[in-house]
Amino acid sequence: MRHLPIVIAAAIACALPAFAQSPAPPGSDPAIPPAPKPAPAMANPIPPILAPGRVLLGTKDIMRHIVNPAAEAFWARSGEVDDEKGAHDRTSKDDENWKISLDSAAQLVEAGNLLQMEGRARDPNGPWMKYSIQLTNAGLAAMAAAQAKNHDKTFDAGSAIYDSCFACHGKYIQRPKDSLYKHDIDKDLKDAGVKPPK
Ligand code: HEC
Repeated sequence: MRHLPIVIAAAIACALPAFAQSPAPPGSDPAIPPAPKPAPAMANPIPPILAPGRVLLGTKDIMRHIVNPAAEAFWARSGEVDDEKGAHDRTSKDDENWKISLDSAAQLVEAGNLLQMEGRARDPNGPWMKYSIQLTNAGLAAMAAAQAKNHDKTFDAGSAIYDSCFACHGKYIQRPKDSLYKHDIDKDLKDAGVKPPK
């Protein structure tokens, strides 16, 4: 793996047509191609995009850069929060914000598929797939709610999205035994009918 960038760079250099190489100085034999310049070292190695399963990012990066930002964008435009002026309804008031809700819901729909890909699914025969599908379904409900610009459905879809995160994290993220949050999480999981992680 460590040598892959060099191999790729060499392959690219070999594949370059002659005209892409530096022209021979005047008077030199055109039949003898000039030696190719060594390829510059690549700062960011090209990932093996044709690797089996084509899984490039780990679950953590999928969460950090796709799932979490999309969910945050949707939640920021649903439900109510209490502020100094009392209950504040966050549901979108204009098309621009409904569009953000719709876009982020669509990202969650497909994120559920990304999580199920071979090589990424933690537990292909276990509840991992169920929770991933739960995320996709919640995302579909969220898309429908945003398309309908419906206040209550947006709120419900936001909860359904949250439930899928919570269920999967409850099962697959290990917590230290003395975690301050352990009791509440276990109780919440029990109430939700989810078996706590072993
Ligand atoms: C199918 C399972 C699954 C679902 C559904 C899921 N997650 Fe995760 N999530 C994980 C796992 C596993 C990790 C721990 C990844 C690791 O540390 O390698 C994680 C980690 C995270 C992290 C921490 C990332 C970091 O930087 O360490 C965030 C934030 C997160 N998830 C947000 C969400 C949100 C928000 C949702 C719902 C919209 C969600 N997840 C749904 C499995 C899931």
